Amino acid sequence: MRIMLAERIGFCFGVKRAIDLAESILEKGDKIYSLGSIIHNREVVGKLSRRGLKVVDGIGRIRSGTVVISSHGLSPKTVARLKKMPVRIVDTTCPFVLNAQRIAKYLSAEGYGVIIVGDVKHPEVTALLDFAQGKAIVIKDSRSARMFRLAENSRISVISQTTQSMDNFIGVINTLLAKRPKEMRVFNTICRDAEYRQDAARRLAKKVDVMLVVGGRHSANTKRLYEVCMKTLARTHLIENERGIRPEWFRNAGDVGITSGASTPDWIIKKVVGKVRKVTEG
Ligand code: F3S
Repeated sequence: MRIMLAERIGFCFGVKRAIDLAESILEKGDKIYSLGSIIHNREVVGKLSRRGLKVVDGIGRIRSGTVVISSHGLSPKTVARLKKMPVRIVDTTCPFVLNAQRIAKYLSAEGYGVIIVGDVKHPEVTALLDFAQGKAIVIKDSRSARMFRLAENSRISVISQTTQSMDNFIGVINTLLAKRPKEMRVFNTICRDAEYRQDAARRLAKKVDVMLVVGGRHSANTKRLYEVCMKTLARTHLIENERGIRPEWFRNAGDVGITSGASTPDWIIKKVVGKVRKVTEG
């Protein structure tokens, strides 16, 4: 039995940058807050919290210190409020997310209705809605796109949450086009890392008997990876760490493939590889 790792695995550059910035502030001993989880990985956030990072839901409890904006970005309204407070702001919004924000703002200013393909509860999407200044709605998939009522002579535009799958994005675009909008502009705002990671995971899932997707259960890109692998291989399992592994998954199985979400550090992947080795060889 071989254990094969996907070509793209571990932190993406956006997450790595956010963690590096947070660590450099913590090293100086500054009081540091993050609005929501800095990344969607409980173990990494736990480690940072033990070093002094305080994760807060809103800005109400912040009086001073440094506030880190996560890689998912933050609503411009909240940023404006923060700027009036006696705090230092460190913005770790990923450049791919910044691009989606700029496009949402531009499209709404140009008078387009903005359709965001994504998860309405995800912080990236919440912020994107505010960048579109009240002119946006969120559509999850082509099923919800079918229920979308298009007004006559509509000028609409479609963008995506950065970690969506390309298949889902295209599905929504085709469904909307079938409704014959007067004008429809499409911007592909899917992050290249997420797209490449999904392709690499799909390729690997075709070669192995069991596939493990390692990542936080709240991580959007991890959920997409799991869906992508599941379409190819029913023996796909989503785990947060090595403790989630069940020996029965490997019964009568040959090769095992491992991929990970963009907020999964290398040390968790190493532990997963070690545990797979142990349960399959032991
Ligand atoms: Fe950025 Fe893509 Fe990572 S949007 S945070 S590089 S998954």
